[in-house]
Amino acid sequence: VTDSFPITQVVLRPGVIDLGWGSPDPTLLPVGEIGAASSAILREAGPSALSYGAPRGPGPLVEWLSQRLAGTRPPRPEWLVLTAGASQALDLFCTLFVEAGEIVLVEAPSYHLARKILRDHRATIVPLASGPEGPSTEELRATVAALRNAGKRCRWLYCVPTFNNPGGWSWPQACREAIVAEAAALGLTLIEDDVYRELAYSEPVAPPLADLAPEGVVVRLGAFSKVAGPGLRLGWLQAPPGITSRIVESGLLDSGGGIAHFSAMVMAELCRTGGFDAHVARMRTGLRERRDALLAALAESLPAGCRWTAPQGGYFVWLELPGDTDGTQLLPLAEAHGVSYLPGATFYPEGGGERHLRLAFSMYGPDALREAGRRLGDALRVDGAA
Ligand SMILES: Cc1ncc(COP(=O)(O)O)c(C=O)c1O
Repeated sequence: VTDSFPITQVVLRPGVIDLGWGSPDPTLLPVGEIGAASSAILREAGPSALSYGAPRGPGPLVEWLSQRLAGTRPPRPEWLVLTAGASQALDLFCTLFVEAGEIVLVEAPSYHLARKILRDHRATIVPLASGPEGPSTEELRATVAALRNAGKRCRWLYCVPTFNNPGGWSWPQACREAIVAEAAALGLTLIEDDVYRELAYSEPVAPPLADLAPEGVVVRLGAFSKVAGPGLRLGWLQAPPGITSRIVESGLLDSGGGIAHFSAMVMAELCRTGGFDAHVARMRTGLRERRDALLAALAESLPAGCRWTAPQGGYFVWLELPGDTDGTQLLPLAEAHGVSYLPGATFYPEGGGERHLRLAFSMYGPDALREAGRRLGDALRVDGAA
């Protein structure tokens, strides 16, 4: 193995604690459990674990998911289709439903690489301001009206309402209800990216938009990536049967069968035996401990004027810098102090977030996170003194 052909996406730089990666700590991943479930499924299902899979995904996992995702309105299995992670669910949805050049509203800030997928499909991205309180219905209505009055088609809004990437916050219940009602009135489909839902560090978690909206207003994306390992490449799309059946009948699934079939069979086994629930509990404990370590280090080490979110779930802390400190400009100095992050501007399509940073507490243990907080504090003090 050489540096040009690494095994994993994350490549670390010596001496730098890199809080830029939204990846799980490798020491938290269920390596032994996945090994045991793989052996068991090969023993029990034999060659059908290695065959072309059922296009929607293997029945036992689809049925388990339909229970797992049950809130007030459990999705029936026909509402689900398994994919190779949430990224591929979004990509496949765009392939089949979003026309080139079409507008997609994107919550700002929100996950920058979803924007990249949308751009791969030649969508035109229009930001919708958001934050801890979620987007405002007035602004949503005005933005859609302005676009439509200009003769443009506007059908989609991509958002991360629960344990937001990069903010860590969750839209309040009242905002959820107002946005789904407004979307329904406007004939807008909400693409709800819900990959962090399992990683709640205190109860209760706000209900998914998909549970609050009239049927057909929400397409919901989810995945096992953040909780059981992104290398499994296993996620899903939840939408009305008219949408999932179009996906199930697509050329991609007809040619290749169900996506990530072997991973799905292994996960079905892990879920059946209760191993998944036990792992989720360990993951929550491990990540809560990491969040607390980073938050304590920020409180101890950062200079006055810094403010940050205290996320109740997910992977991220969103930090506001003091005065006119710019997150992008600070980065080289921070890295010289041995800590890195993603500048806030990364998460805005058209400007914004200059005074913010996203810090991921997901990939390092508590000691490294405490050290990262100290290094960031040192860099900020040097910057302030300069
Ligand atoms: C909001 C959000 N959606 C999707 C993804 C990617 O999910 P997956 O690995 O399942 O493709 C990420 C990863 O950072 C994310 O933060």
